[in-house]
Amino acid sequence: MAIVTIPDENRTLEDREAITSYLAGIGIDYERWDSSRPIAPNAPADEVLAAYSSEIQALKTQGGYVTADVIDVNSQTPGLEAMLAKFNREHWHDEDEVRFIIHGRGVFHIRPRQGAVVAIEVEAGDLIRVPRGTWHWFNLCETREIRAIRLFQEPAGWAPNYTETGVDSNYQPLCFGASYLPSEGSMS
Ligand SMILES: [Fe+2]
Repeated sequence: MAIVTIPDENRTLEDREAITSYLAGIGIDYERWDSSRPIAPNAPADEVLAAYSSEIQALKTQGGYVTADVIDVNSQTPGLEAMLAKFNREHWHDEDEVRFIIHGRGVFHIRPRQGAVVAIEVEAGDLIRVPRGTWHWFNLCETREIRAIRLFQEPAGWAPNYTETGVDSNYQPLCFGASYLPSEGSMS
């Protein structure tokens, strides 16, 4: 389940209904897909796409997406820092950003045209759809890995357009999910 925070209001949403309805209010679609199906987190991309083929097909029909792929990012990814630096500054795309998380964690910050900035920490089983034109930025969590299905209307439209507002530097890319598991060190 995602964790949604509204830093400027000191609010945290962890209830599925509350998250879905709050995000819908700022134009972000959020869904949980059944992640209990028998597929390993490191299964080949074609197996991942096949496992979720019915959901992918439904989204394609709904959003006009024509292609789907699987993106893998981890600490061994060549050019990781340069890749992350492209997306951790406020930007928008001329294409929806649609991600279904297979493995790993990351944080999307969304800055609605009206209202407070929202941080959405996503994990396996979360589907997020950020409509074209939405101001947002993205960071990985501490494990620096994420694996996700992506859907595209037109892959060329996915290049980032930067707002250059610097708003992103006012928000810490904090991840909370992992910190709910006390480490041995913190228990002593
Ligand atoms: Fe983006």
